[in-house]
Formats: sequence, structure tokens, C-alpha cells
Amino acid sequence: MVNGPLGRKLRMGIIGGGALSFIGKVHRTAAQLDLRAELVAGAFSSDPAKSIAAGRQLALNPARVYATWTEMLDAERRLPADKRIDFVTVATPNDTHFQLAGSALAAGFHVVCDKPMTNGIAEAEQLAEQVARSGRVFLLTHNYTGYPQVRLARQLIESGELGEIQAVRVHYLQGWMRSRPPGQVYPRGNWKYEAGRAGVSGTFGDVGSHAYHLARFVTQIRPTRVSATLRAFSPGGALDDYGVAVLRDDRAIITVTASQVTHGRANDLTLEVDGVLGSLVWRQEQPDELTLMRNGRPRELLTRAGGGADAAERFTRLPPGLPEGFIEAFANLYNAAFDKMAGGQSATFPDERDGVEGVRFIHQVVASSAEQGRWLPL
Ligand SMILES: NC(=O)c1ccc[n+]([C@@H]2O[C@H](COP(=O)([O-])OP(=O)(O)OC[C@H]3O[C@@H](n4cnc5c(N)ncnc54)[C@H](O)[C@@H]3O)[C@@H](O)[C@H]2O)c1
Repeated sequence: MVNGPLGRKLRMGIIGGGALSFIGKVHRTAAQLDLRAELVAGAFSSDPAKSIAAGRQLALNPARVYATWTEMLDAERRLPADKRIDFVTVATPNDTHFQLAGSALAAGFHVVCDKPMTNGIAEAEQLAEQVARSGRVFLLTHNYTGYPQVRLARQLIESGELGEIQAVRVHYLQGWMRSRPPGQVYPRGNWKYEAGRAGVSGTFGDVGSHAYHLARFVTQIRPTRVSATLRAFSPGGALDDYGVAVLRDDRAIITVTASQVTHGRANDLTLEVDGVLGSLVWRQEQPDELTLMRNGRPRELLTRAGGGADAAERFTRLPPGLPEGFIEAFANLYNAAFDKMAGGQSATFPDERDGVEGVRFIHQVVASSAEQGRWLPL
């Protein structure tokens, strides 16, 4: 991995990622992992005092720790080109993505945005058009596509190793909602239970969207229709915490199950693909192992030690047997986006088109479930 045509570190500004938050910390660690970017500015919280405190804790230049995101975009945009940030990472609750990503683009910056791209379909389409007009790079962090063995799975399917793909099963199962007393307020993330803030869906939007994107990315099948059933099993739950969607194109069937009420499951994102010539399985909790199965032949465990896969090798840093994980996969997407920001060739990464598709997927799943699983177009 090299710094590319730019020959310098890219400068990062982040919105979100305050003291108690989850994914903002992953973003700033992943973005800086390969020393191709440096966090130089941030508006870390909706509470100005907390934002300043977070920036101090990170030992940033106090002049570039901002009380609000509007101040950050305004001030950074006015700095000389060799000082100002190159990109803005949006790691805030779902209902803020549209405004923050749109404003960062309008201020002239590349954008890295966490999923879902927006809460509404029209907003997603508008943002995608804005990205296209701006000529800026937009990375949507469906981070599971950053794992080397996921890249290998895509490459195997693309090369015809599995033959025609006929069935795909993907699930993302978590269990933490079973331990959550109804109505309790948590130190962070309470927005996830509010329809207005999380969006039209709970669990399906939160983790089902990752599962769907993973199936799409690996198989490159574009389903055209969906039928779904969602449930809110948790007492008092306003949004779904369990659901199943069946998707199809003319030939293949894809099933997506998403749960946050399955005891004992933490981040069980599992993908199974059946082709005419073979099947494969990949599990996020053992990310270095891709299993390839063909009737009458021993199972093949494709690890990073296997080598040979261009796509996977470009997405790894350590010799096989030394584990890489969630942060490295996240960093791989950042690197792909950095290549593009620097004007070079880049590996495929989830972008604004995936964002629109994902938001549409969430909405159609919810709409189908509301109509007793009626088949709807995607
Ligand atoms: N890609 C992934 O694997 C993954 C994992 C978790 C969350 N997410 C997504 O990341 C986003 C954040 O999720 P989280 O779990 O980190 O949430 P969180 O509630 O833990 O953190 C959100 C952070 O945003 C800050 N914030 C809110 N409004 C702000 C504003 N106006 N200005 C500045 N900061 C503001 C909060 O103070 C907090 O620090 C969500 O969209 C979520 O869907 C993605």
C-alpha cells in the first residue's frame, strides 16, 4: 500500500465519535491504521462541551476542535488548501447523515459516511446526485466487504468457480436486546430505538442492511423483488428486532434474516452461497476462513495462508496466522477510498449507489411486511 499520486497523508475531519460513542472510534483508528491519513479536526458530539473535551483527549490542535459540525465545515473550508481537511467522516445517528454528508460535500470535501446513507429514499437519491455533481469521493462503510476472504469469495464467484449462483442465505444475528429492560435509558445509542431517528426500521435497517449488502457484494446478483416479515418481539418495541426477507431475480433466491433477540449471538454475520458447481460459507466471527464445498470432494478451507487470490492479498497486512479483524477490514475500505481520493486506481468499495440501494431495500422490506409479505419491486 502506498500513498498514491498525492504523496502525502490525507487530512481527516470527523463528525461524531465522542467519548461514549461506538463507531466513530473505529473510523478514526481505521482511517489512520496505514498512516495514509491523519485526524486533524473534529466535531465529536452534539454537546459542544463534550466535543471540546473529546478533541482535547485526542490531543488535537485546539484550534481545530470544533464545538459544532457547522463551525468545523465553515472554518475548514476557509483554510488554505495545504492545511484544510480532505475528507469528512460522518459517524453520527442515522437521521443526521443526509444533512451532514450533504453539507460536507457542499463545502468541497470527500465524504465517508456510515450506513444507512440516509433515512429516506428521496434523500438518498438527492445525496447520490450531489455526489455525482461534486466529483468528490463517497465511501459508505459497509465494512464487512473489507475482509480479505470476502474479496476472495467475490473473486471465486466472478471467475465461475461455483457455476451459476442459485441460492444465497445470509443472516446477521445478535442477542443484546434480550438483556435490555424496556424503557431503560442507556449512556449511548438510545436513538436506535426511536423511529424518527433510526429510520423506518430497527434491526433490519441496523444489521439486515449489512447482510443484504454483503450478499449483493459477493454474488453481484441484483434482486428485483422482495417479500418480508418483520416483528418487534421486545416488550414496548416500536421498531422491528427480528425479520426475514426473501429476495429474487429471475433465477436466484436470496434469504436475509436479521435478529437482535437471539440469545448468545454477538455479531453472527454468516453468508452461504450455493452455485451449480459448489457452495461456500463465510462467517464474520472467523473472518479468515472461507469454506468451499463440492460434492464428492474434501472441503477446502481457504485461509489467508492459501494465497493466490489477488483480491484477498491486497486486503491484508500480516502474514497468515496472525489475525486481522474488524478494524483492518474497515481500514481496507478507507484505503480503497484513499486511492480514489488521490486520483489513482482503486479497489471496489461501497459508494453512494450502494447507499441508495440499501435505503430502498430497507423501505421495501418494511412496506412488504406491512402488507403481509406482499412481493414488492426493489
Ligand atoms: N458500520 C458499522 O459496522 C456500524 C456499527 C455501528 C454503528 N454504525 C452506524 O454508525 C452511526 C453511529 O452509530 P454509533 O453506534 O456509533 O452511535 P452512538 O450513539 O454510539 O454515537 C453517535 C455519536 O455521534 C455524536 N453526535 C450526534 N449528533 C451529533 C452532531 N450533530 N454533531 C456532532 N456529533 C454528533 C454523539 O455525540 C455520539 O458521539 C449510525 O449511523 C450507525 O448505523 C455502523
